[in-house]
Amino acid sequence: MKKIAILGSTGSIGSNSLKVIEANPDRYKVLALAAGQNIDLLIRQVEKYHPAAVAILDEDHADLLKARFKHRSKPRVYSGQQGFVRIATMDEVDTVISAMTGAAGLIPTYQAIKAGKNIALANKETMVMAGPLVMAAATERRVSILPVDSEHSAIFQSLQGHPREDVKRVILTASGGPFREMGLEAMERVTPEQALQHPNWTMGRKITIDSATLMNKGLETIEAKWLFDLEMDQISIVIHPQSIIHSMVEYRDGSIIAQMGIPHMMTPISYALSYPHHIETELPPLNLDEIDNLSFKSPDLKRFKCLALALKAAESGGSMPAVLNGANEVAVDRFLKGQIKFLQIPGLIEKTMEAHDPFSIESIESVMEADKWARTTAVGLLKDLND
Ligand SMILES: NC(=O)c1ccc[n+]([C@@H]2O[C@H](COP(=O)([O-])OP(=O)(O)OC[C@H]3O[C@@H](n4cnc5c(N)ncnc54)[C@H](OP(=O)(O)O)[C@@H]3O)[C@@H](O)[C@H]2O)c1
Repeated sequence: MKKIAILGSTGSIGSNSLKVIEANPDRYKVLALAAGQNIDLLIRQVEKYHPAAVAILDEDHADLLKARFKHRSKPRVYSGQQGFVRIATMDEVDTVISAMTGAAGLIPTYQAIKAGKNIALANKETMVMAGPLVMAAATERRVSILPVDSEHSAIFQSLQGHPREDVKRVILTASGGPFREMGLEAMERVTPEQALQHPNWTMGRKITIDSATLMNKGLETIEAKWLFDLEMDQISIVIHPQSIIHSMVEYRDGSIIAQMGIPHMMTPISYALSYPHHIETELPPLNLDEIDNLSFKSPDLKRFKCLALALKAAESGGSMPAVLNGANEVAVDRFLKGQIKFLQIPGLIEKTMEAHDPFSIESIESVMEADKWARTTAVGLLKDLND
């Protein structure tokens, strides 16, 4: 029986994780849940899954939860980042599903690793910001970090049973998002509502915008670099609009091993929890005879400048990926609030990166310093965006 804590239980990955757990009560037990703002959903989850502990971002919300659950089997209630760390490091927990959005996931995930917990990792920002530190901590504590991201799950599955020295490169697939075929002029006028319409996947708002700008693929490239110990020139990206092949590994004899399936996150979540087994899900099967065409082409780095910026940040290394991530979080938030245009997202990130003097990251504190610097600088640069 795996005893699980979910960071970000009220999100898209969190909710799908709970479905996987609920379908396998003999394998998994929910011990702790953590959420940001959605107290109503967290209450419903507590009533359904009876966790021993919960954490929520705001103290006021934590007080409401304490008042609500007064009965004998009430969960312990914590708040804020400290609260997230408490539940991610609870003695009884052996696996943490890291599924918060953005930089908020880094410290609880890192502390969970330090406390010896295995990680099912959805929060790619953790790897983007602090990949070398996170991997070093995982090696030291001998914990596994199993990918939940569908592309990384596909790579992980395609690596099984093959000697690592035979790997030539990995090929990340990208759907291309809703603006795959759109010209730059039309992209100028894209609204948040349009950008939130992903053609193949149902996901949280931030990652959906990252998919529309292709920043998501850039973040995934950095995640893959650290997770699979690859050089940047061993990672290729192809646009594959059907989202049927979730990624591939090419070996030195020319063989390419791919993992396929319908685009649904319950498959990679389930594999991250059940590895090395593939357990039943209630998902519909992939009917190959209903697929006319699987197509592939290179991404356009001129129209999707966020991807080019992420690759540049990865090459530059040190604090730059954390700066890219922090500036992106500010830009996406402002775009969703209607304060900047779609094509100003890469503009703001680029200006922030240009203003940054990268330093090496020796500790999580130095990563957080880079993150804070990026956010403050990006906010300060907002007014210059129209120049
Ligand atoms: N969705 C996917 O298909 C998918 C696929 C691959 C990877 N991922 C990655 O998984 C992570 C989660 O994505 P998602 O789509 O599930 O996002 P989501 O639906 O927006 O959910 C995000 C979760 O994080 C919580 N959260 C947000 N900000 C927080 C903060 N400051 N402090 C504490 N909790 C906070 C949210 O809480 P409230 O809602 O309660 O505020 C929610 O539980 C991201 O890193 C994403 O890149 C997602």
